[in-house]
Amino acid sequence: MKIKIGLLGLGTVGTGVYKLITSRGGHIRESTGVYPEIKKILVKNLNKPRKVKVEGLLTQNAEEILKDKEIKIVIEAIGGISPAYEYVKEALSSGKHVITANKELIAKHGEELNEIAEKNRVFLKCEASVGGAIPILHQIDRLKITDEIDFVGGIINGTTNYILTKMTTEGRRYKEALKEAQQLGYAEANPDYDVKGFDALYKLAILMRKVFNINVPVNSITRKGIDEITTQDLNYINKWGYKIKLFAWGKKVKDGIFAGVEPVLVEENNILSRINDVNNAIILRGDSFGEYVFVGKGAGELPTGDAVVADLIDILLNYDIKDNKRINFLPIRQGSFTDTFY
Ligand code: NDP
Ligand code: HSE
Repeated sequence: MKIKIGLLGLGTVGTGVYKLITSRGGHIRESTGVYPEIKKILVKNLNKPRKVKVEGLLTQNAEEILKDKEIKIVIEAIGGISPAYEYVKEALSSGKHVITANKELIAKHGEELNEIAEKNRVFLKCEASVGGAIPILHQIDRLKITDEIDFVGGIINGTTNYILTKMTTEGRRYKEALKEAQQLGYAEANPDYDVKGFDALYKLAILMRKVFNINVPVNSITRKGIDEITTQDLNYINKWGYKIKLFAWGKKVKDGIFAGVEPVLVEENNILSRINDVNNAIILRGDSFGEYVFVGKGAGELPTGDAVVADLIDILLNYDIKDNKRINFLPIRQGSFTDTFY
């Protein structure tokens, strides 16, 4: 049995997804009974050189995917709010499952989109939106069953960690390191989102929604980026035995949640000081499991593609292909989205 997929975007993430689906399709069929096939790919520029062979698949017209009844799953990897928001909404409303890597979209509109998915009995999945390759949202779903989690946080932006690592260990200038991160496909289309802390903020909001079942408005979270840190600052700090990391945290306190994103000093013997390059580290604290630190590549073509394909496999394992309806309802929910924090 085959399932047709519409891919929105063929940049860093879209290319990773395309490579994995086309190279691992047989393995996916062996584990799920369903062969995934990408039927159409939406891009902005039809003439741009591509890293993969996609003859006949590209379109500039989103309706060719959204109105195509044969396409049952839409993967959104274009980024930003508009038109990603409109496309995801239309796909869910017309009964298509959606997988997205878009943290801004999920942080700002996840609650509404999830309600639309629930209403139409389809999946909305977003593992790739947080922590790159780290399967953190799946893990939280599991751990929440047995634990009260009171802390979630860590290093959740690959670009800034890459920049800080290169400035510290190789003496690179800030702008040079940022340019490299862009060339490697780690940075957002507008890299201010990374270096000013917005990307980490969106991811933190998604993590907190998952962990604490609350919707924390993104503009209520303290935010400071790394764009004012110089190589000289880092040299001094290094000599004193510290590293600087962009740290995000959400902590349950007596009267609510204490949350923020900002550069912090970490001692050399702290595990976070050894998280380098594009790696992320996500810390969870629960009353039964104690403390976990999940480490992995936080950005890039294949690590992110892998997280998207993990969501695809989950969907294929949990829905009735003939009816195109979800079978397994409860364990797949993305949190209740009901309680609002402020
Ligand atoms: P890119 O800029 O590399 O790719 C974006 C793609 O979307 C391009 O193919 C572009 O077309 C297409 N596109 C953009 N706008 C439109 C539009 N209006 N209509 C049609 N097509 C459009 O982005 P990334 O792949 O890096 O990121 C995509 C999403 O994934 C973002 O939400 C990002 O935050 C998220 N993400 C990124 C990660 C990474 O490592 N880069 C990791 C995890 C999540 P064209 O190619 O023709 O320009
Ligand atoms: N720009 C993001 C980062 C991509 O560097 O972490 C992964 O979400």
